[in-house]
Amino acid sequence: MNEKVRWGIVGAGNIAHRFANAVKNAEGAELVAIASRSDEKGSKFAKEHGIEHVYVGYEELAKSVLVDAVYIATPHPQHVSCAKLFLNAKKHVLCEKPICVNAKEAIELSECAKKNGVFLMEAMWTRFLPAIIEAQAMINRGEIGTIKNIQADFCYHYPFDITSRVYNPELAGGGLLDVGVYCLHFASIFLGDYPEKIVAVGEVQDGIDHQVNYILQYKDGSIANLSSAVTVEKPATGYIYGTDGYIEIPNFFGANQLILHKNGETSHIEKPYMGNGFEDEITEVCNCIRLGKLQSDVIPLSKSIKMMEQIDEIRRQIGLQYPFETL
Ligand SMILES: NC(=O)c1ccc[n+]([C@@H]2O[C@H](COP(=O)([O-])OP(=O)(O)OC[C@H]3O[C@@H](n4cnc5c(N)ncnc54)[C@H](OP(=O)(O)O)[C@@H]3O)[C@@H](O)[C@H]2O)c1
Repeated sequence: MNEKVRWGIVGAGNIAHRFANAVKNAEGAELVAIASRSDEKGSKFAKEHGIEHVYVGYEELAKSVLVDAVYIATPHPQHVSCAKLFLNAKKHVLCEKPICVNAKEAIELSECAKKNGVFLMEAMWTRFLPAIIEAQAMINRGEIGTIKNIQADFCYHYPFDITSRVYNPELAGGGLLDVGVYCLHFASIFLGDYPEKIVAVGEVQDGIDHQVNYILQYKDGSIANLSSAVTVEKPATGYIYGTDGYIEIPNFFGANQLILHKNGETSHIEKPYMGNGFEDEITEVCNCIRLGKLQSDVIPLSKSIKMMEQIDEIRRQIGLQYPFETL
C-alpha cells in the first residue's frame, strides 16, 4: 500500500468538484484519477483540478491499478451498480448519500463489500462535523438532560426542471432520498437507529416526492419530527430538545455552530469545520483503509441499511415507487 490512499472520482458532476477540492486538504489522501462517461467532461474536470489520469467509462477506472479507493458521485440509482463494479474490482468505496435507493440494494452492497474484503461507507459528511461531535459530547455530559425530541427540516425550493435529477423519477428525484436522508441520520445520531413507529404524509407528483413530513417514535417514547422537500424552502435548523434545555443547530447538515438554550440563557458555540466540510469524512476513510478496516465505526453499513429501511417505510406510506424498481 502506498503512503497515501490514491483516490479516483466516479462521475464528473456537481458534487464531485467539492470532493476534489477537499481531498487536497485531507490527511493521507491523494487524488489521481477521474472517470466520466464523456472524454470531454472528464478532461475538463481533470484540468480544473490538476488530476493526472482521465478514464472514459467507469469500467476503465475499475481496471486501473493506479487507485486504491473511489468516491462515487453519480445519481442515487446508479450508486448500486457503480459501487458493485468497484467493490468487485477490489477498490475501497466511499459512496455518496443515500448509499443507494432502497434497503434491498443496501444489503446487497454490504454483502458485496464483505465478500471482496474491501471498505465501503456512505458519504454522510454531517456525522464527522466538529459541531455535530460537540453536540454529542454536550449530551453525553448531561448538559441538556434526557433527550425527548428532535426536529430537523431539510427543505429547498428547486424550480421545476424535468432534466435535473431533482425532478426525474428515473433518477429517483424528490426530497426524501436527496435531503431527507440527512434528517434521518440526524435523528439516528441522537435517538438511535430503531424507531418503533414511523408516520409519514407526503405530496407526491409525477413520480417524485415534492414534500414529506415524517414522525418517528422510539421505544423510550422520544420523538423525531422531520421533513424534506424540493418545492418549498424552510430553515434547515436542527433542534435537540432535552429535559434540561435544548441545542439549536443552524444548517444542521453542514453545521459549524451550536446554540445552547438552558436556564433561560443562550450561549453560542462556534465549531467550524476544516476546508469545505468533506475533509473529515475523507480522513476517516483513509484511516480505516490504513488500519485494514472494512467499515467505519461512525457509519457502519448496518446504519446505512437502517436508514434505507426507514426511507422504504416512508415511501410505502406515501405511495412512492420509482419506475425502475420492484421493492
Ligand atoms: N454530500 C453532499 O453534500 C451532496 C451534495 C449534492 C449531491 N450529493 C449526492 O451526490 C450524488 C450526485 O449528485 P450531483 O448533484 O453531483 O449530480 P450531477 O451533478 O447530476 O452529477 C452526477 C454525475 O453522475 C454521472 N452519471 C452517471 N450516470 C448518470 C445518469 N444516468 N444520469 C446522469 N448522470 C449520470 C455523470 O457524470 P459523467 O457524465 O461525468 O459520467 C453526472 O455528471 C447524488 O447521489 C447526491 O445525493 C451529495
